Amino acid sequence: MSFQIRSFDAYQKAFQKSKDTPDSFWRDIANSFEWIHPFSSIRNGTFNDAHVEWFRDGKVNITANALDRHLQSKGDKTAIIWEPNDPQEAVRTLTYTELHALTCQFGNALKSLGVQKGDRVVLYMPMTPELTIAVLACARIGAVHSVVFAGFSAQALHDRIEDAQAKIVITADEGRRGTKTIPLKETVDKALLNLTCVESVVVQKVTGIACEMLPNRDMYWHELVVGKPTVCTAEPMDSEDMLFILYTSGSTGKPKGVVHVHGGYMVYAGYTFSNVFQYEGDDVYWCTADVGWITGHSYIIYGPLLNGATSLMFEGIPTYPDAGRFWEVCAKHKVNQFYTAPTAIRSLMSSGSEPVTQHDLSSLKVLGTVGEPINEEAWYWYRDVVGQSKCPIVDTWWQTETGGIMISGLGGLSPQKPAHAGLPLPGIHPVLLDPNGHDILENNVEGLLCISQPWPSMIRTTYGDHTRCRNTYFHPFPGHYFTGDGAKRDDQGLYRIIGRVDDVINVSGHRFGTAEIESAINETSGAVESAVVGFPHDIKGQGIHAYVILDSKTGSLAEEDLCNAVQNAVIKGIGKIAKLDRIQFVSALPKTRSGKIMRRILRKVAEGEQTSFGDTSTLLDPACVDLLVSGAKQLQIC
Ligand code: WTA
Repeated sequence: MSFQIRSFDAYQKAFQKSKDTPDSFWRDIANSFEWIHPFSSIRNGTFNDAHVEWFRDGKVNITANALDRHLQSKGDKTAIIWEPNDPQEAVRTLTYTELHALTCQFGNALKSLGVQKGDRVVLYMPMTPELTIAVLACARIGAVHSVVFAGFSAQALHDRIEDAQAKIVITADEGRRGTKTIPLKETVDKALLNLTCVESVVVQKVTGIACEMLPNRDMYWHELVVGKPTVCTAEPMDSEDMLFILYTSGSTGKPKGVVHVHGGYMVYAGYTFSNVFQYEGDDVYWCTADVGWITGHSYIIYGPLLNGATSLMFEGIPTYPDAGRFWEVCAKHKVNQFYTAPTAIRSLMSSGSEPVTQHDLSSLKVLGTVGEPINEEAWYWYRDVVGQSKCPIVDTWWQTETGGIMISGLGGLSPQKPAHAGLPLPGIHPVLLDPNGHDILENNVEGLLCISQPWPSMIRTTYGDHTRCRNTYFHPFPGHYFTGDGAKRDDQGLYRIIGRVDDVINVSGHRFGTAEIESAINETSGAVESAVVGFPHDIKGQGIHAYVILDSKTGSLAEEDLCNAVQNAVIKGIGKIAKLDRIQFVSALPKTRSGKIMRRILRKVAEGEQTSFGDTSTLLDPACVDLLVSGAKQLQIC
């Protein structure tokens, strides 16, 4: 494809072209895809409008590019290799021809349920090929998919279904993760109580456990598809028509539905996959993320399939049946590109190199990481033990909102440095700003990471609330997209991401808004107020430290019971993925005279600071800091 960059020289030329003639740069990339009707312009609008459109008047369907386009030349090539949770169970593979047929068939099945272009479909599914098929089938018929990670609680699922006003929910009887089963259908049933928008629930049989099926609403996938034709024309979509909504956390309690569209997202997902991973020929590529997160959307499904690649999809977890599973799977399928999260690397590193070196990892060519900053120790272990010092590491920085990778090395082409994401991709123009919005021109100084030029897969809106989108991303620094991250740039121009500068905590690469966790905690009976902060955690990157004020009536209850009650409230409101690491019961929070919580102090206490808290003179009650410090020494570790 014409957008392939295969040398550092080509990278530099492409970058320069993207700076000098951005329209022509993006036009060439977009023209590598098949359009049902050509676009008439490249870009309309600016960041200041908080509304930028790409490839106006173009008609396209992302699945025509991800599937149909490959049928003639690569119909028999494996599109998906599915590795089950249990290594004894059979691997499933789907060729491009098979994946196309199953997508069409399920697209027709959705149509038979009355799903029309623009309707929202929520997917709450385990990591099975059916999840990929369901995603593609929605896109095929012009429905909007919204995948909700299958670890979210019924309440969190309810909130997302309601916000999206979904017509259909697709789920499974149960999911499987290691030795555990996850009751997905049961959770959907709870989530749907008091919701009227959902007309049908489609249930994939995974474990075969008996499920309660509500007549006229619930049906099994395998029964629904019987007799449905395996031909289904890809719906001609406007370039700016919605492709999916993916909910992510922000700095308020309400999750926000990040919206991506067919045209721009397709162009950017395809372009970045090819270049970052330097995919070629019959390589086998494996991204260990879950499709419930943006990484799974862009780099398990769309990016690889747009490039006619073979993408491995894994149902299980890194430590089942043992800490060698990832490496066993790499050896079994001769994986060439492997993409995972720093938290997984750190946790596997703690099992030593034995489980890695037992396996033949000679097929590996490129190793990737995503989701959070990678510390130097983990970076070296990844490079030297997993990659046997011969594979480049691509530390890919991006966000749900950016749709695709923004700052990263390209395979082994560009310079790499531990803990640094590196240079921006051609077409991406990052800047560091000070809090007043001035460009920081010197190097090695921390600034607020912003992007100065629009790119095709940028967030279009937050579903149902465009003001929130404008205020979060485009309003803080006029003329820029604000990422919410702090970063540094070194003398070579390589970027190092420091972490979030807003009220978002990144636990094992998963984003949580502090307000979201606090509102879950406040549902505990007896909880008056709470504040949560992140603290450095060896495996998870950040752990969650909660400060909770209880009312006087709870005084007679045992601390352990109170802790369980708080923890359960978080599990109920969000899910086990947001479990608190520490709970500290306090009598007061450090507030300014205007009532604002000074989170800086809470963060320092959680980090173990005992004495230097900077200026505390604006606190209503400066003495509360000492109480917080002494309480932190005897807090509950969950
Ligand atoms: C963080 C995940 C450092 C960052 C694709 C960002 C990273 C947030 C990296 C987005 C990286 C992601 N190095 N930090 N390579 N990649 N982040 O939306 O704070 O789940 O803002 O998207 O993860 O998380 P999200």
